[in-house]
Amino acid sequence: MGHGGNALEELMTDHREVEEMFGRIEAMTGGGQALRDLVDEVTIELVRHSVAEEQYLYPAVREHVEGGDRLADKELADHGRVENLLKQLEKTDADDAQMSPLLHQLMDEVSAHVRDEENNLFPMLRQACSSEALDELGDKIRRAKAMAPTRPHPSAPDTPPANKLLAPGAGLVDRARDFVTGRGKS
Ligand SMILES: [Fe+2]
Repeated sequence: MGHGGNALEELMTDHREVEEMFGRIEAMTGGGQALRDLVDEVTIELVRHSVAEEQYLYPAVREHVEGGDRLADKELADHGRVENLLKQLEKTDADDAQMSPLLHQLMDEVSAHVRDEENNLFPMLRQACSSEALDELGDKIRRAKAMAPTRPHPSAPDTPPANKLLAPGAGLVDRARDFVTGRGKS
């Protein structure tokens, strides 16, 4: 969850974590609850990461990087496609034939996004911002991410906020997003 380091290091560690989860998904034979749990876990991680980027990283890109508005808009469009896939996945049964193509689409989208950020966006931001500003941004991102539990089935599901994340109603993607943005706190 919180890794330490400046904003770019923090976000790159998230990227490695997501890749590791994708590796576990690909290594998995059969579907069922084990696949469901892993898909839910990667969903929460991706939502948490996306919201942190949207709230803190992209505003900094708009402010400090030349042509930043265009870059930030492109990243937001990437996130929109990823979130759309996550919403389809949350409605798809782990044993459904659609599961595998959807997961592969998700992995393709996410790895393109990760490459784009690490090869283009992050180096630009590193150039444009002071190291203090990036450190401060790292702290803010860690605080934002700490708002949501990491697992959909925590060992103590009766403790908030896990109980709210598990509550029926809105889908997992929306509930996770509400937690990270603070809308689910009341
Ligand atoms: Fe990212």
